[in-house]
Amino acid sequence: MKKIIILLCVITFGCKTQKNVVQPTGVLANEVMVVSAREEASKIGVEIMKKGGNAFDAMVATELALAVAYPYAGNLGGGGFMVYRKANGEKGTLDYREKAPLAATKDMFLDANGNVIPGKSTKSALAIGVPGTIAGVFAVHAKLGSLPLEEILKPVIELAERGVAVTQKQEERLNQYHDELNETNGHNSVLSKVYKEKDTIKYPALATTLRRISKNGRDEFYKGETAKTLVAYLQAKGAIITMEDLAQYDAKWRKPLSFKYKDLNIISMAPPSSGGICLAQIFEMIAPYDLAKMGHNSTKSIQVIVEAERRAYADRNYFLGDPDFVKMPLNALMDNNYLKERMANFSFNKATLSSDIKQGNVTYNESMETTHYSIVDQFGNAIAATTTLNAGYGSKYYCDELGFFLNNEMDDFSAKAGVPNMFGLVGNEANSIAPQKRMLSSMTPTIVEKNGKLLMTLGSPGGSTIITSVLQTILNVYEYNFSMQEAVNAPRFHHQWLPDLITFEPNTFSTQTFDALKAKGYLINEKTTPVIGKVDAILVLPSNKLEGGADFRGDDTAVGF
Ligand code: GLY
Repeated sequence: MKKIIILLCVITFGCKTQKNVVQPTGVLANEVMVVSAREEASKIGVEIMKKGGNAFDAMVATELALAVAYPYAGNLGGGGFMVYRKANGEKGTLDYREKAPLAATKDMFLDANGNVIPGKSTKSALAIGVPGTIAGVFAVHAKLGSLPLEEILKPVIELAERGVAVTQKQEERLNQYHDELNETNGHNSVLSKVYKEKDTIKYPALATTLRRISKNGRDEFYKGETAKTLVAYLQAKGAIITMEDLAQYDAKWRKPLSFKYKDLNIISMAPPSSGGICLAQIFEMIAPYDLAKMGHNSTKSIQVIVEAERRAYADRNYFLGDPDFVKMPLNALMDNNYLKERMANFSFNKATLSSDIKQGNVTYNESMETTHYSIVDQFGNAIAATTTLNAGYGSKYYCDELGFFLNNEMDDFSAKAGVPNMFGLVGNEANSIAPQKRMLSSMTPTIVEKNGKLLMTLGSPGGSTIITSVLQTILNVYEYNFSMQEAVNAPRFHHQWLPDLITFEPNTFSTQTFDALKAKGYLINEKTTPVIGKVDAILVLPSNKLEGGADFRGDDTAVGF
């Protein structure tokens, strides 16, 4: 079976470099599309645009519908980033990332000997950062929305009341997390129960919370009854978030991080996400190599991409953090000569070991969650938004009275320089904890332009693998002429400097590829088999129709008209 899958992948993806005319293979739409982790959320986003709403109205609806339909990562208790491109070419980004509470301290996850206390930054109530999602959707609506907020929230509230059918994948996830959810929330909590595929889960408490937010506005979450209930819940669990933390939270409009790759203009998220800068560095480092000629997922193309990734992640982990707190040499990091110099010691004959770039020796095998959605509207506006609780179901703390999970985003800080977080990412001083600071992210919502026009909007969950998933999906379309759906489907690999391993999607690469890479000194991760990203993307075809790329690795669905 394994051999057949590999052979199919080689046949399906290996011959694409020869192809000139690209036939779409994903869902097609004439004007409007939403691609997200759940069909229910995509449909609600589209419904809003059918009523005359724009992509920004649809963003508010989709983001909150994911909190209902996809509680694994969709959220009210987390945060995210959005990149947009308006029909007139204007671009912008919104940072609604969580913040460290005012009472947070640099050493809050260390013991008396200065060692990281295992689990404290992921499983305790101290792992929870101040949520940004409600501030985010209200900021988007105030600046760019067109429909009344009550009209946008109505179908989301109805979905929470009506309930959402459990999919097979959701059943598996709930089983996997069953004990942890029970331990944290007791067996009466809505997601602590045992569900089977096709069961319906209703979320009446979340519907009530959303109805209050719809009536009273943004401050309901940050200053009102919801805030008071949330703070009482958090403090009872041992969290340090106060009413003042909520009152002081604000989402921030930030300058997009834009760069060129050949004739593409790529617009992505600047710090506190590392996504844009890392993507820019990798694209610049691989640009001199003829990847199309080397072939998709060939040994040589894997080498080029891995070596660029290794170098970019080493810089990420050393230099990047919250721009409101640390100075970062962003221009120097994106400088052509610097990046040329960075690749100067790469040879096709032998792997560069990460220890030659910087010391370190760690392992990682955690699952990684977050969720991304892409939207294009009938006016030509495009959105890429990635939102997260960090781990699957975040900290696992579920406020039953309000109906949502709380994040464990504090783990995205570097608890101690040189010690890896749950993604195996080794951070430094730039990403150390401070009150009101935002933790460094890998979320990479991205929009691609060609010849001054919108070409693609995309992004992915997957913790540290987000950046490489976005990179490979763009390359699949641009260098290898894949359709949008094929580009999303194609097998992916990942390297993040430390641990010094190339991780491959299971059963999709041949043993010959592994052997060829091992012979050159590459270390291959064959033991753990994480999913590398779940990309949701939209491609504008030459006919101006839209092709969706919805990732089969999840329940992701493209809906459009
Ligand atoms: N929590 C994952 C990220 O922000 O990269």
